Amino acid sequence: MLTRRDFLGSIAAVGVGGVMRPASAGSVAHRLRPEALSVTIGETTQTMLGFNGSWPGPELRVGQGDDVSVQVDNRLDEGTLVHWHGLRLPNRMDGVNVLTQEVIPPGRTFDYRFAAKDAGTFWYHSHYIAFDQVSRGLFGPLIVEEAAPPDVDLDLTVQLFDLLVDNAGQYQEDFPADQFTGAGRMGNVVRALMPARSVQQGARLRLRLINPSIDRVYRVQIGGVDGHIVALDGMPLLAPRAVGEIVLAPGQRCDVIGDVTGDVVLFDGGNRIGQVSVNGARARRNIPLPTLRPNTMPRPSSQPIQATLTLQGGAGGGGHGGFGTWALNDVSGLPRSPLVDVRRGTSVRLRIENATGFDHVMHLHGHHFWELDPTTDAVGDYRDGTFIRAGDTRDILCVLDNPGNWMLHCHMLSHQADGMGTWLRVR
Ligand code: C2O
Ligand code: CU
Repeated sequence: MLTRRDFLGSIAAVGVGGVMRPASAGSVAHRLRPEALSVTIGETTQTMLGFNGSWPGPELRVGQGDDVSVQVDNRLDEGTLVHWHGLRLPNRMDGVNVLTQEVIPPGRTFDYRFAAKDAGTFWYHSHYIAFDQVSRGLFGPLIVEEAAPPDVDLDLTVQLFDLLVDNAGQYQEDFPADQFTGAGRMGNVVRALMPARSVQQGARLRLRLINPSIDRVYRVQIGGVDGHIVALDGMPLLAPRAVGEIVLAPGQRCDVIGDVTGDVVLFDGGNRIGQVSVNGARARRNIPLPTLRPNTMPRPSSQPIQATLTLQGGAGGGGHGGFGTWALNDVSGLPRSPLVDVRRGTSVRLRIENATGFDHVMHLHGHHFWELDPTTDAVGDYRDGTFIRAGDTRDILCVLDNPGNWMLHCHMLSHQADGMGTWLRVR
């Protein structure tokens, strides 16, 4: 019999793919080959999905301002496409079937080209039957490096991922109906996937936390690092923040910079999910922790147009229109007409009311938005995903300055699959 501990060890050994760096500054060409892979989890070898022989996909690194091209060469026996989560890029490069492109059929390629405007921590993933393809491994980090990166000894990407396996350790391929109607499909093996094994005591560390899990919300605590939060969803904070418990919903990211004071241990809700052990030591820097330079942000109008989005449905939830479990403004699944249809540059204040009995994380493509403080209305964090607890309301403010058809959906991918998505049109 396989114990949970065996799983943890061996999933780590499955490895996180290598890092693909730019050959030269200015323009970067990468290739991504989605394919089926044999992955050994515990004592069972099974077929999962990955890119370029790596499960999950390799970390792509580009420089801010680079012209990036990525050829996706579909070696699966099913369709796929790739979405660049969090990037403000041209609409036809967004990787969303129905709205921006056709699914890439097996054996065919698609060339994605975009400029990497914003520096920060992003990720890429399949946006086709995403709950299934992402769950099987079709995702990876996408790091856009600053022209002058902060001075750290180790820049470490940490992907928080969970897998649902049966008693024999076999990945559960089927998705029973009840995984779509509540909090989602929760894995029973939960891991912080990271490519480093050791770090020096006293070293300065940048941690880039990414949550590519399909439904799980993490409550992260970090032991052994004396530092601060410098960015959320790729975007630098105007003032860094203390690291306490970090709530990271699916799709969200958080960057932390700090000095190593002991074994670096990641916890989710008190459970240890990953560790980088101390090996050797160096003197701690006696200069303050760096912060990051903000990316360019648009200026919102003081008279935004107003819109409301009501999240509905779920087990035991109220009725709504449409056939799926979940709905937005009484429609389940992508509506015929967009939630808003505006001219480029329009500011929109969107009130999101969570009328369900479950938590959700609403993600907007092609833009970031400000979360507004519920009492003071002050402009808060600039993000691409906002986590809204059951029964809560959140107002966001967005300058819709990127033309095209953009998806807005719950990034709990089981919810998205069962109707929780809409779209915006920017002309
Ligand atoms: Cu991470 Cu619609 O995507
Ligand atoms: Cu949801």
